[in-house]
Amino acid sequence: MPSRRHVLLLGTGGLIAVTGPTLAQPLACTPGIAATERQTEGPFFRGGSPLRVNLAGQLRGERVNLDGVVMARACQPVRGAIVDIWHADSAGDYDNRGYELRGHQITDERGAWRFETIAPGRYPGRTPHYHVKVTPPGGRTLTTQLYFPGDPDNARDGLYKPSLQMRAVKAAAVVTARFDFIVEA
Ligand SMILES: [Fe+2]
Repeated sequence: MPSRRHVLLLGTGGLIAVTGPTLAQPLACTPGIAATERQTEGPFFRGGSPLRVNLAGQLRGERVNLDGVVMARACQPVRGAIVDIWHADSAGDYDNRGYELRGHQITDERGAWRFETIAPGRYPGRTPHYHVKVTPPGGRTLTTQLYFPGDPDNARDGLYKPSLQMRAVKAAAVVTARFDFIVEA
């Protein structure tokens, strides 16, 4: 997790140096906060993904360490939630036969989850995105998608929502991205 005050934010066409808070700060949560917006699952979800942190192995692509927490609308961390992620490779293709770039985690007592993966590539009509399903214990699954800040294709993608944008910084060739989910737990 970057700890410098000066960090690099992903921006249009490259990186923008900024001064400000780092990604170590969790989302400010006010009890009663709205749940994370739902989005379409899309055509490429596969059940039965492996429990693992590293989704990319030796695959080519920009390294991304993605993490966050799952919280209930009353702001308590949700332990034992399943966070299942799937995304395109750097060429914009999904693995629809196996489980490349697919996996899940189970949140710990802080509601925390994390993955080591790569940046998703573009495919026609879509800006880069991660697909995710978050299932709290005994609760309804939240299906949604996460987006990168400052991507020039965001504005051309009808599904893109600013509220589903990750916070992202790049340091030493690795992007650290964070998103905190709010669920109806
Ligand atoms: Fe997709």
